Amino acid sequence: MQPPVSPTRIPYSIAPMMDWSDRYYRYFMRGITRRTLLYTEMISTAAIVHGDRSRLLDFDPVEHPLSLQIGGSDVVEIAQAVAAAESWDYDEINLNVGCPSDRVQERGLGACLMATPDLVARMVEAMKGQTAKPVTVKHRIGIDHMDRYEDMHNFVRIVRSAGPARFTVHARIAWLEGLSPKENRTVPPLRYEDVYRLKEDFPELDIEINGGIRSLDAADRHLRSVDRVMIGRAAYETPWVMSTADSRIAGVPPPSDCGRVAVERMIPYLEECYARGVPSRKILRHMLGMFSGLPGARLWRQGLSGKLPDNGAPLLRSVIERMPRETMETPPQ
Ligand SMILES: Cc1cc2nc3c(=O)[nH]c(=O)nc-3n(C[C@H](O)[C@H](O)[C@H](O)COP(=O)(O)O)c2cc1C
Repeated sequence: MQPPVSPTRIPYSIAPMMDWSDRYYRYFMRGITRRTLLYTEMISTAAIVHGDRSRLLDFDPVEHPLSLQIGGSDVVEIAQAVAAAESWDYDEINLNVGCPSDRVQERGLGACLMATPDLVARMVEAMKGQTAKPVTVKHRIGIDHMDRYEDMHNFVRIVRSAGPARFTVHARIAWLEGLSPKENRTVPPLRYEDVYRLKEDFPELDIEINGGIRSLDAADRHLRSVDRVMIGRAAYETPWVMSTADSRIAGVPPPSDCGRVAVERMIPYLEECYARGVPSRKILRHMLGMFSGLPGARLWRQGLSGKLPDNGAPLLRSVIERMPRETMETPPQ
């Protein structure tokens, strides 16, 4: 068992991704990297306060270090949500100030909060009042009419007064009028220089950069200018890109010395989840990109999609057996 790692010392994280970074994806990624900071999907404060907490918040201990991302806009409710989540033992609590979806916007959450930094500061204060864990903020470089570097600078200047432990910056504007959430992750241009400049202007702050980073080599280049790097889609679509994270972070070997070990580890997990009433499709869907770009990638993807049995363990075993050996034995790279 590896010692717990404080989230404040980890240079890489895997982004919160709604419908993607659920507990099954996170468990799978722990076969590839133990040291990277993981995030939950965004969970609204209302859901935590009024909903089925166990379903929303339970996770496997192997998922540590793990940040709980919450979305809210009400100072009282956010304090209640953080207090309610305390007994789940997350390693940090993150506030979403970056989601551009219409539904989220209608409730005053996510990226539109960039226009109200005083409210964000009060929320961070309220969160810190309920937990001793680090409270962090994930935001954009701007929104619609507030798209200049100076606007982000002003946002960070005000929010930092509440003392968040980190600012994670998705290096794109969110256009709240006219673009879908998906387009808002591709259409507005990336402005990494704005994030570097933020670090220069606030050297004492812990700044993480995010957006369009597809490999750990690329991440390491950003680390010359900022403190940390968050990777989202690349870690989901091609999970093996994270396979050298542990050796880069801590000089320790990865949990799996080849792809085969990482996927075979999921066989008993599928059995265990099936016994708890979780159908295997909820888990296997996160593994489809595992061998992208390698011989057998199609066989893998097709073998694990379509109509799947509720207990997918035997199916996974048989697909592994049919995969080309050189692909299954690809070392971390
Ligand atoms: C399917 C999907 C769901 C997302 N859901 C969230 C979310 O719940 N909270 C959040 O802060 N960002 C969310 N994001 C944005 C990512 O966290 C990240 O900021 C964005 O994808 C840019 O990073 P990347 O280019 O490395 O993917 C989501 C992204 C994707 C692709």
